[in-house]
Amino acid sequence: MEPTSGTALTGRDRLAEDVRRGLGRRQKQLQPRHLYDALGSQLFEAICELPEYRITRAERRLLAAHAAAIGGGLASPVTLVELGGGNGEKLVLLIEPLVRRLPDLRVALVDVSATALDLATRTLGRFPGLGVTGHQATYEDGLRRVAHGRSGDDTMMVAFLGSNIGNLDPSAARTFLGTLRSALRAGDRLVLGADLVKPEAELVLAYDDPLGVTAAFNKNLLGRLNRELGANFDLDQFAHRAVWNATASRVEMHLESLCAQTVSIPGADCRVRFAQGESIWTESSYKYETEEIAALAAAGGFTRRDQWVEPESRFAVTAFDAT
Ligand code: AVJ
Repeated sequence: MEPTSGTALTGRDRLAEDVRRGLGRRQKQLQPRHLYDALGSQLFEAICELPEYRITRAERRLLAAHAAAIGGGLASPVTLVELGGGNGEKLVLLIEPLVRRLPDLRVALVDVSATALDLATRTLGRFPGLGVTGHQATYEDGLRRVAHGRSGDDTMMVAFLGSNIGNLDPSAARTFLGTLRSALRAGDRLVLGADLVKPEAELVLAYDDPLGVTAAFNKNLLGRLNRELGANFDLDQFAHRAVWNATASRVEMHLESLCAQTVSIPGADCRVRFAQGESIWTESSYKYETEEIAALAAAGGFTRRDQWVEPESRFAVTAFDAT
């Protein structure tokens, strides 16, 4: 794998800029993409093993059962692009039935996390001869790079799994899917994994597990600012909160200040004051109904081919054609 250069240099500046802007807002906010440094990526891997966090297992069951149908009808040459795929295990399930039929299949990985790209590249090592390229980039930048490099006759299948779409609010999700569509051609395919609305108690437990792994994942963001930007966050003075916002249909993660305090962040050139009880909003995980998922992608220029639902954990994988 050849990691694309350039992003590593600008990464620290982007973090600093996002932190300055986000913590200057009335409702303090940090972008969820910054959760995934090396330690954060490993904590996310651990989250996926938690009994309370059922997204990963539910999606794997659907992919294992329906991979052939998901990639059905695609003709060689095919490039499979995964956006924010993590460790690559789900890609294996998608690739297995494809690689027999399409021996010149190629894979492009797009992820902001170098750790995730390493893990995924290693995972895909079990397919000898499979061409794999990694792009350490945001979804939009990475996709643009992959689309630029494509040859005239190949078909792209884009996998956007794990309910990563849930980090975007619905209007941003529509815009993002439109951007995705404009990077594709008619006949290309999109595979979208999205978590569904379910009882509040289940949702909150999935984002506030009794073992405290999700709390560690969330608080690591402050640890990262200490390590990379020389900040002096006291992690004991912040608490992890997960709340279901029914009106907006999202689980919100926050870091709540347990006292009045001021934190300095030299690398972002700022000092930030917290009132007791004030929070930093670090992530939204939107939950959908099955029909809403199709409508979201239709607005972006995709046509639904098929949808598979895991009934126990309530998770959906939907395949679309770019039309
Ligand atoms: C990887 C964004 C889909 O929102 O469920 C897991 C991240 N956050 N536990 C999600 C996450 C807290 C996850 N996504």
